[in-house]
Amino acid sequence: MVTWNLNQTKHHVLICNGGSCMRQQGEEVTLAIRSEIARHAAEDGIHTTRTRCNGRCDDACVVIVYPEGIWYRDMTPETGRRLVREHLLQSKPLQDRVAYSYLQDRFVPSGMGTTGVLRKDKNNK
Ligand code: FES
Repeated sequence: MVTWNLNQTKHHVLICNGGSCMRQQGEEVTLAIRSEIARHAAEDGIHTTRTRCNGRCDDACVVIVYPEGIWYRDMTPETGRRLVREHLLQSKPLQDRVAYSYLQDRFVPSGMGTTGVLRKDKNNK
């Protein structure tokens, strides 16, 4: 058990470790992101959390970055390392992997991921 001091944290990275994402290299993506953060001695600025399913399984492996509110799709160990170097350390999101971005007041799809279903439509079936 540990309680981290987050007062130097700039980014919170949620790495999906749900079943679908784990079948799409979720463990390897997690380890790649964390080792790249360590390689750059950026642990105090970047906090990572393993999560359960984030509800976007067709996009597996899913990685989400806050406070930007960017949802990444089809992440691999290599794009995980790029995420650290380009997005987290240079503020250049990986445009080729963005599924959703938070703009003004909601998440906006990039058009590259699966559309998915709305809860109201699913509940009416
Ligand atoms: S298991 Fe990752 S989004 Fe469902």
